[in-house]
Amino acid sequence: MEKGEEKEAEKAHCLILPFPIQGHINPMLQFAKRLLQKGIIGITLVITKQLAKTTHYSSAAISLQTISDGFDDGAPTDINQADYLARFEEVGSTTLKEAMQGLADSGRPVDCVIFDPFLPWALQVAKELAVFAAAFFTQSCAVDHIYHHVYKGELKVPLLPGDQEILIPGLPPLRPDDMPSFVSSYGTYPPLFEVVVNQFTGLDKADWLFFNTFYNLEKEVIDYMAKSAPVKAIGPTIPSMYLDKRLPDDREYGLSVYKAVTGACTEWLNQRRPESVIYVSFGSLAKLDDRQMEELAWGLRLSNKHFLWVVRATEESKLPKDFAEETSEKGLIVSWCPQLDVLSHEAICCFVTHCGWNSTLESVSLGVPMVAMPQWTDQSTNSKFVMDVWKMGVRARGDENGLVSRETVASCIMEVVEGERAVEIKQNVIKWKELAIQAMAQGGSSDLNIQEFVTSLTS
Ligand code: UDX
Repeated sequence: MEKGEEKEAEKAHCLILPFPIQGHINPMLQFAKRLLQKGIIGITLVITKQLAKTTHYSSAAISLQTISDGFDDGAPTDINQADYLARFEEVGSTTLKEAMQGLADSGRPVDCVIFDPFLPWALQVAKELAVFAAAFFTQSCAVDHIYHHVYKGELKVPLLPGDQEILIPGLPPLRPDDMPSFVSSYGTYPPLFEVVVNQFTGLDKADWLFFNTFYNLEKEVIDYMAKSAPVKAIGPTIPSMYLDKRLPDDREYGLSVYKAVTGACTEWLNQRRPESVIYVSFGSLAKLDDRQMEELAWGLRLSNKHFLWVVRATEESKLPKDFAEETSEKGLIVSWCPQLDVLSHEAICCFVTHCGWNSTLESVSLGVPMVAMPQWTDQSTNSKFVMDVWKMGVRARGDENGLVSRETVASCIMEVVEGERAVEIKQNVIKWKELAIQAMAQGGSSDLNIQEFVTSLTS
């Protein structure tokens, strides 16, 4: 806790409600830790009962509260997303209200609900109970700005064949395949399209809009959005010990859907030369098709580099037969790893990533060049920024069916690691890493926004 903040913060109790998937829980939990650091003494994390049963939670400073999504023993496997989300809204808003009333009855009233706008009904609950509400966007400002344009009807979907260059104020010109998949392939996931566009419903009632990004990274779009909304960049929400190093050790996430293989990864990396290993991961959700998995595998082999590859248990059967044994001299394949420890290890020289927003921000903040292989949702737009705006890597493009060949995988790795562009990429990587640290360091742009929030909440 920083000096002078303790007294004024004693009143505040924030409730944090992420959409119940790893990529949304991580940044909101890390944000909660930053609030604790600033002196907000009460934080309650709210997750579904179902998630609480299937995950491991271990963060003493942040208490846990469960609500129901209507499926406490797990949703039926064949339920469609629209039905799930409708039930979550119905049961979730009632049980959230009950949970907040319970906290008030027990002497811990909630002052502010920090909610994921994927769950916009939480805003309504907060307002019904007359508490402050802050939306926490877990994706980039650029992506949310695109969704906002769709919401306002200023960007028409589906895109028309003539829409070869999409111009949106605050953003660079975008090609259709730079757009989030819900826009470029409109109609493929209707319920999720609704989720990302409905984030803005009633949002004018929110008291704050937080974005997990930092000012310098998305300056143009933040300036544009800030003309009409109280947009505050508060990221990157990377644990302090990897970034500004103000907290002694806050590495553990607190809530993990998967169990990481920790010691073995570090031991293996410790035996490799500095900047010699390719780290490969596609996050917690993406499913590669069998052929893509095969091309990726042989592409890694073709690059002739050492690699550490996260293949989730559900993806393992797609690995080419005998691949792990055949490449055991070069590679380590694990089902989940401590990604921040890996990215900050001196042996890593490149991250082959799906460009989920957390992975992208982690790579930016820890200074690792990227080969972008976006799969869906916001990842194409993130890849566009990685390659053309921040110039921190290259995008591996697929054929007309989207399949990225083994030759492309290998040549992109070589381009990033030792090709003509490698020097420029390396310089940019260092620049962005420093800017990320500055944003979260005391007095940095994100740090000031967090401080301003704490001060206004407690005064
Ligand atoms: C999802 C979406 O897919 C993504 O596009 C969106 O921006 C956020 O929500 P996910 O696919 O899981 O997230 O990707 P990402 O955003 O990169 O988040 C993955 C998180 O899991 C990262 O914080 C990463 O550090 C962590 N991780 C991943 C591990 O800790 N270990 C691993 O082995 C792999």
